[in-house]
Amino acid sequence: MENYSLFFILLWLPWSFFILGDSQLLNSQTQALLQLKKHLEYPKQLDSWYDRRTMFCFLPPSSKVNISCEFHSVTELKIMGDKPSIEVTDFHGFPIPNQTLSLSFSMDSFVTTLTRLTSLKVLSLVSLGIWGPLPNKIHRLSSLECLDLSSNFLFGSIPPKVSTMVKIQTLVLDDNFFNDTVHVFDFTSNLTSLSLKNNKLKQGPLDFTSLTHLKVLDLSGNRLYSHLPTIPKGLIMVSLNRNSFNGEIPTQYTLLTHLQHLDISFNNLIGIPPASLFSLPNISSLNLASNMLSGSLGYYNLTCGNNLEFVDISDNRLTGSLPSCLNSESGNKVVNFSGNCLSIDRHHQHPLSYCRYKVHKDQSTQNANGLGVSVSLIVGIVVIIVLLGIAFVIICRHYCHRRISEQHLLHKSVHENSATGFSSEILNNARYISETTKLGTQGLPPCRSFTLEELNEATNNFDNSAFLGEGSYGKLYKGRLEGGSQVAIRCLPTTKKYWIRNLKLRLDMLAKIRHPHLVAILGHCIEVKQDDGSVNRVFLVYEYIPNGNFRSYLSGNILWNSKFPIFRLFYG
Ligand SMILES: *[C@@H]1O[C@H](CO)[C@@H](O)[C@H](O)[C@H]1NC(C)=O
Ligand SMILES: *[C@@H]1O[C@H](CO)[C@@H](O)[C@H](O)[C@H]1NC(C)=O
Ligand SMILES: *[C@@H]1O[C@H](CO)[C@@H](O)[C@H](O)[C@H]1NC(C)=O
Ligand SMILES: *[C@@H]1O[C@H](CO)[C@@H](O)[C@H](O)[C@H]1NC(C)=O
Ligand SMILES: *[C@@H]1O[C@H](CO)[C@@H](O)[C@H](O)[C@H]1NC(C)=O
Ligand SMILES: *[C@@H]1O[C@H](CO)[C@@H](O)[C@H](O)[C@H]1NC(C)=O
Ligand SMILES: *[C@@H]1O[C@H](CO)[C@@H](O)[C@H](O)[C@H]1NC(C)=O
Repeated sequence: MENYSLFFILLWLPWSFFILGDSQLLNSQTQALLQLKKHLEYPKQLDSWYDRRTMFCFLPPSSKVNISCEFHSVTELKIMGDKPSIEVTDFHGFPIPNQTLSLSFSMDSFVTTLTRLTSLKVLSLVSLGIWGPLPNKIHRLSSLECLDLSSNFLFGSIPPKVSTMVKIQTLVLDDNFFNDTVHVFDFTSNLTSLSLKNNKLKQGPLDFTSLTHLKVLDLSGNRLYSHLPTIPKGLIMVSLNRNSFNGEIPTQYTLLTHLQHLDISFNNLIGIPPASLFSLPNISSLNLASNMLSGSLGYYNLTCGNNLEFVDISDNRLTGSLPSCLNSESGNKVVNFSGNCLSIDRHHQHPLSYCRYKVHKDQSTQNANGLGVSVSLIVGIVVIIVLLGIAFVIICRHYCHRRISEQHLLHKSVHENSATGFSSEILNNARYISETTKLGTQGLPPCRSFTLEELNEATNNFDNSAFLGEGSYGKLYKGRLEGGSQVAIRCLPTTKKYWIRNLKLRLDMLAKIRHPHLVAILGHCIEVKQDDGSVNRVFLVYEYIPNGNFRSYLSGNILWNSKFPIFRLFYG
């Protein structure tokens, strides 16, 4: 009998695929799409994604959402939301109501769900309020050819593993808040277009020569402050404007024979622009405006490339005559040379002294700036030392006071916890455990926020077997994180309404306090009510120390005792 059923199943299997045809997505992909909708907090653009019966691959393309499928899998997913990041200037890594997704959004879970769409070739998620650091695991989307996450609230570094995505050709992360150094660009791939404009990227070793297929490079609107980067020969469009690049224009740039568009305006470049930049065979647009370029262009017998249509050398320190090929009346070029000291009879030229004087002045202000920096550095250090001193005095006052009343507290703790059956023997091991704790915390990673899912997983949905005890500061559970490390999780009842950002800041601050009498806090999880966005429950995740741990958790209690300054820090 069993054999027969097996036979029927085998017979049916190919047919089921046939019947499904190209029309139906694999179950896992359907689930992933619906889960993405949930992660993105049900944006109205995805209203047509009803449930598992939705024919995702047959939804008509719109200006907001496009899906393409091949062989029961999504190969292209494009969603355009209505939460542009451009209107936000002040983002500090915390959600902003109506502009980012809420506090319960987890970038990590989101990307985990995305990676279940294993056949994705094109992924474009723009203006969706996505916030958080971009996790390294994004590289698991190994079929990706085009990734566009523009106009969101991503910060931190561009994950190094992105460079292992060999198929990727276009990477666009414009208008985000990436604020680390640029250090990933040893692509072995065919990356042709890299756009990171309008972020907060800082300096790193900028060398793009390994990107031999690169055609388009846009790093404009960041905080890059080195010399201009060396770039591969095949580039067609280069935008490095609105940074703080300094030094001279590299002569390497005069070898970029394919270059059509170069914008290095609004930097701190100095020296004479190389004449051969103007005569590159394919150059059509050249913008050198608002730098500190100096010297006389007329010195050269400057010739212009045949394709040159737009030149902006305005607002520099150029002197001498304007080369004839840049004289806008001599052809159909658009040339802006105002704001220099050129010896031509036109408006908007400064007297020669301006350019000479400015060069000197700029140099001296640079020196003055340097001096200013070191003075403010010293002042800053002094202020920090004074503040630390004050903080030390305050903490010491409380601490010394606490020492005197330690007996009292210990008694109180015993009282509190005798109800939950903690033996006094364990409590008496306090000092010893404190020391272990102290040693244990030194190499700890910084505080992080956990998702409720993670905590559910760690404690088997807060199962009874994970329950350690209950004190006046909430229930305590034991758990095991994904990496295998053991933790204790305290669920704090919240009676007050918190301002979420404030709460998070305080939790972060709390985690930074390491004290021999306190168990280290590894992180926290804030559960938010769906309806009004207020805080429902707060979980604190401590490191777990077996043997005598209850005493350590008593220090957890001390943490929440209103007599202790740290508590006030939290409740403010
Ligand atoms: C979807 O595709 C259409 C044309 O195929 C295009 O006009 C539209 O902009 C695309 N939508 C998104 C969100 O990319
Ligand atoms: C980047 O921004 C985040 C959020 O504002 C901040 O927490 C982090 O310290 C910043 N990192 C760097 C390297 O500046
Ligand atoms: C958020 O948007 C809703 C409706 O779109 C509006 O009622 C509410 O006042 C907005 N809140 C803020 C803080 O802008
Ligand atoms: C780059 O592209 C070429 C052809 O377009 C292909 O043969 C090669 O495998 C690609 N290289 C990588 C690393 O994907
Ligand atoms: C210059 O551009 C033309 C098309 O505009 C192209 O055919 C030619 O190959 C380019 N030359 C170089 C050296 O890139
Ligand atoms: C410019 O051209 C003239 C003749 O056309 C020549 O005498 C002069 O040396 C050239 N100047 C430079 C700097 O090449
Ligand atoms: C030329 O450049 C100056 C300074 O950068 C600017 O104020 C002016 O608007 C520009 N003129 C044109 C016609 O673009």
